[in-house]
Amino acid sequence: MIDEHIPVSEYRARREKVLRSLKGAVGVVFAGDGSPPLVGQWRPNTHFYYLTGLAREPGASVLFDPKNPDPTRRCVLMLKPRDPEMEDWDGLREPIGLPLRKQTGFDKVVRSTYLPRMLTMAARRSKRLACLDPVGSYMGKVPEDLSIFRKIAERMVGVSIEDKTELLNELRSVKSKHEVAVMKKAIKATAAGFDKVLQALEPGRSEAEIHAVLDGVFREHGSTGPAYNPIVGAGVNSTVLHYNANDQPIEDGDLVCIDAGAEYGRYAADVTRTFPANGKFSERQREIYEIVLRAEEAAIRAAKPGVRFHELDEAARAIIEKAGFGDQYIHGIGHHLGLEVHDASPDAPLAAGAVITIEPGIYLRDEKIGVRIEDDIQITANGSRNLTKAIIKDPDEIEAAMRKAKRAR
Ligand code: GLY
Ligand code: MN
Ligand code: MN
Repeated sequence: MIDEHIPVSEYRARREKVLRSLKGAVGVVFAGDGSPPLVGQWRPNTHFYYLTGLAREPGASVLFDPKNPDPTRRCVLMLKPRDPEMEDWDGLREPIGLPLRKQTGFDKVVRSTYLPRMLTMAARRSKRLACLDPVGSYMGKVPEDLSIFRKIAERMVGVSIEDKTELLNELRSVKSKHEVAVMKKAIKATAAGFDKVLQALEPGRSEAEIHAVLDGVFREHGSTGPAYNPIVGAGVNSTVLHYNANDQPIEDGDLVCIDAGAEYGRYAADVTRTFPANGKFSERQREIYEIVLRAEEAAIRAAKPGVRFHELDEAARAIIEKAGFGDQYIHGIGHHLGLEVHDASPDAPLAAGAVITIEPGIYLRDEKIGVRIEDDIQITANGSRNLTKAIIKDPDEIEAAMRKAKRAR
């Protein structure tokens, strides 16, 4: 029932941390609602998934009730009632009982029809309601926990609502050893994909074929597929940051910017490499490539605990600006990586255990030259470790590997 990549004891430990950090306040984390779509997969709210490992329970939630006198009811899994007719369509669901409690690691599992009653009781006990679901933008939907807490506050005197929206972002941004192990598998599948692309890439191929190579190799390595829409941009398309049509021919002299990562055990890899289609960088392509590479390596060297993204950006940007291409580096230096490609991101300096991307680029549309180089970096106690260093990026090594592949064809 829960994904097996992370032990059930770790999910339980995550919930216990939340419970302690709430310091007596009540919290609810919703999975979100919906049903399995025809295209793609239903995905739970990532905070809910992080706390439970449950990926196929729309309508579920976790209630934190730290002041409940019964310790087994301080953290409760709420699951939507069973519907035998829907089970014909979506698959069988478990009855509530000991096997379900054992599998999920919850002492208490109830149907979500109990939520209004149990949450109201919890609010009466605590009088403090803590929002855990962060607001992306005030233009978006009101978070489900905040909207319910407002209903409670309208009906109950003396109840206050507080902001704990950084809590799960902070917890999620420091990866456990199990999480890193799973991410390394995503990276291994990704590395195999890039390796095969180097073997296959030549003028006359299409962006679609390279996309298909990545997809196939990822899956051969146990991945469920790409963690996000892969970008395979040849020629002028290499300069389009989120290009994903991937339907054009690859021509002699093109640079091909490939931004792709496998998903494995729900964790993402996120890697970009830029290769010359014919196996050899032109002088101008190499000039730009080497600036981006130096910038990327400077940012990687700057990565350590206590540093913020803007400082990594400055390290890369100084080199790109000095070379005269500051206005052609038009995006951020990177982001946290984990259950989401753009993962939960606390408003805080990097902590040891974070996994981030570093991905500067230069984009010269008129010259059809787009170069981005992106690695996945683990922040360690004293500095950082490049988790994707096996994926070659030295321009001489790229050319040598492509020469070898050509001879073998
Ligand atoms: N592939 C999306 C990104 O690099 O952020
Ligand atoms: Mn990327
Ligand atoms: Mn990225």
